[in-house]
Amino acid sequence: MTLANATPSDPKIGNNVELKQTRLGQYVHLGDDAVFEEVEVGDYSYTAGHNQIHYATIGKFVSIATYVRINPGNHPTYQRIAQHHFTYRSSAYGLGEDDNDFFNWRREHAVTVGHDVWIGHNAVIMPGVTVGNGAVIGSSAVVTKDVEPFSIVAGVAAKKIGMRFEDSLIERIERSQWWNWSHETLQERMPEFRDLDSFVEKYL
Ligand SMILES: CC(C)(COP(=O)(O)OP(=O)(O)OC[C@H]1O[C@@H](n2cnc3c(N)ncnc32)[C@H](O)[C@@H]1OP(=O)(O)O)[C@@H](O)C(=O)NCCC(=O)NCCS
Repeated sequence: MTLANATPSDPKIGNNVELKQTRLGQYVHLGDDAVFEEVEVGDYSYTAGHNQIHYATIGKFVSIATYVRINPGNHPTYQRIAQHHFTYRSSAYGLGEDDNDFFNWRREHAVTVGHDVWIGHNAVIMPGVTVGNGAVIGSSAVVTKDVEPFSIVAGVAAKKIGMRFEDSLIERIERSQWWNWSHETLQERMPEFRDLDSFVEKYL
């Protein structure tokens, strides 16, 4: 594909972005200076830049601020004498083949982020965590446990500081699954997307 025949739904990828075995949905925008490794990014989701995201499934309409890191690798703290990566990235040091079992552990502890999640600047989401739909992760949070849908978490380690909506509304939003509506429907219903009450009245 050349820029000349790119369509608006094609992913927009910034400068110095490394994509390793990564799948990008429609209207995905990736900011500069980032690494994505074995990541699936859902439609309309964006990253603002300076991100490192490994072994993760990111839903649709997810907003990821600058310097967010998802699934940083743990070194073998308890399992091996040496924590340094020469015991698994061995080939880089002329010390034999890389240790695939170690990388498989990381793969098995993938992170899942739901739809319409907002992840604040500099947050870190640890291996194996699931973040529910509609959740908010505060700036600089370190998320070590699963995050309830539509909750707001912050701090190190992140704790729930509130909910976006009351339970009955959350249930109705989840049932609507608006994040699966077509592009044309989104466009048509933009006035209601800009006004909570009329959205609730018309579509929930
Ligand atoms: C998490 C966030 C959305 C909370 O907003 P809010 O619901 O309006 O919460 P409040 O500002 O009323 O704060 C509630 C409490 O949480 C604390 N808090 C808020 N954000 C926090 C954060 N990121 N880390 C730690 N504590 C935080 C407040 O100090 C307050 O504590 P208190 O009850 O002891 O006084 C917001 O603070 C935040 O972090 N936004 C992310 C901004 C960002 O990174 N943008 C990137 C560009 S898109």
